[in-house]
Amino acid sequence: MTSSSRQFQLLNSGSALVLELKSVQIPTPSAGQVLLRMGAASLNYRDLLTQGDSASTKDGLVPLSDGAGTVIALGAGVARWKLGDRVMANFFPGWVDGAFNPTQLGNAFGGGTTDGMLAEHVIVDQSSLVAVPEGMSLEEASTLPCAALTAWHALFERGGIKAGDTVLVQGTGGVALFGLQLATAIGAKVIVTSSSDAKLARVKAMGAWQTINYRSHPDWEKVALDLTGGRGVDHILELGGPDTYDRSIAAIAPGGKIAQIGVLTGFASQPNILPLQFKNASINGICVGSVEQLKRLVQFMAQHQIRPVIDEQFAFESAPEAYAQLSAATHFGKLVVKIA
Ligand SMILES: NC(=O)c1ccc[n+]([C@@H]2O[C@H](COP(=O)([O-])OP(=O)(O)OC[C@H]3O[C@@H](n4cnc5c(N)ncnc54)[C@H](OP(=O)(O)O)[C@@H]3O)[C@@H](O)[C@H]2O)c1
Repeated sequence: MTSSSRQFQLLNSGSALVLELKSVQIPTPSAGQVLLRMGAASLNYRDLLTQGDSASTKDGLVPLSDGAGTVIALGAGVARWKLGDRVMANFFPGWVDGAFNPTQLGNAFGGGTTDGMLAEHVIVDQSSLVAVPEGMSLEEASTLPCAALTAWHALFERGGIKAGDTVLVQGTGGVALFGLQLATAIGAKVIVTSSSDAKLARVKAMGAWQTINYRSHPDWEKVALDLTGGRGVDHILELGGPDTYDRSIAAIAPGGKIAQIGVLTGFASQPNILPLQFKNASINGICVGSVEQLKRLVQFMAQHQIRPVIDEQFAFESAPEAYAQLSAATHFGKLVVKIA
C-alpha cells in the first residue's frame, strides 16, 4: 500500500475558502479507531455554508460530513469491526445514543475544526460507524448520514408518523426527497413543493401524493390547506426558514408537527407562532441524529428497499464541480463524489 493519500482541503485564499487537492501521509488509527479507504462522499447544503464561513472553519479543513468506505486497518482494541467491513460514519461522531448534547455541535465531520470525508483515507472512532447493508453501494450509503437521518429523525423518531398521515416537504433536495421516500414507504401521503414543474413531475413518479410549484403558487400554504380539505398537513419538514415559516405554521394541521430543520432562505426566522397554540400544534427542533438512529434508518431502508436518489456522481478530482452544481440548486436529490 502506498503511504500517501489525497484529500481536498478548504484553504483560505484571503477572500474565500477554496477547495484544493493535497497529498498527505495515510494516517494511523489509534486505539479504538479504524482507518477507512473511502468509497464515496456526498454533498449537503451545509457544505456550502461551511465553505462560506471562513470565520469558524479552520484553514485546511477536509470538508463533507457524509461518506462511506471500507475498513482497511484497525487500532488497538477494536472488536466491533473487521478488515473489509463496509461502513458509513455518523454526522456527529460523538452522538451515539440518547439525548443530544450540544457540545457535539462543534464535533460534526467536515465543519469547524473537525475534518470530514472528502479524502481517500479517513480515521473514525469505532463507535461512530454503522454497517452498510448488503445490496447497498458505498455511493448510496454516503448519502445517508446527514440528509436521510435528518428526515428519519424528524418523521419517525420525533414525529411519530403513521400510515395515512399527510406530510409536506419543501423542495427536491436531499432532506426533502428522503422525507418523501421514507414517508410514502409506510403509506403516508406526501405533498412536495418545488420551483420546477419538471422536478415535480419526477416526484409524482416517485409516489408523491400532491405537488405544488412554490414559484407559480407563492401562497402554497393555501393550496396545501385546500388539498387537505382545509384541515392542514400533519408533518412539515421546514427547510426554507424566514421565507417559508409563517406559511408552514398556516399549513400545519391541528396536533401537527413542524420539524425545524432548514435555513435555505436564511437564519433569522421570526415567525408568528401564536397560531400553533390554537391548533395544539408543535415545532420539533431537529439536529441530524445519533448513531443508533442511523442504524434504525438503515434497517428501515433495507426492509423497504428504498434506494437514495442520486442525481449525479462526480470523479474525485471533479469535487469542485459537484460544489458548483449544489450551489446552482439544479440537482434533484443527492450529489455524490466517487472516491475509490
Ligand atoms: N437541522 C439539521 O439537522 C439539518 C440537516 C440537514 C439539512 N439541514 C438544512 O436543511 C436544508 C435542506 O438541506 P439539503 O441538504 O437537503 O439541501 P439541498 O439538497 O441543497 O436542497 C436544495 C433545494 O431546496 C429547495 N429550496 C430552496 N429554496 C426553497 C424555498 N424557498 N422553498 C422551498 N424549497 C426551496 C430547492 O428545491 P427546488 O429546486 O425543487 O425548488 C433546492 O433545489 C438546508 O437549509 C440545510 O442546511 C438541516
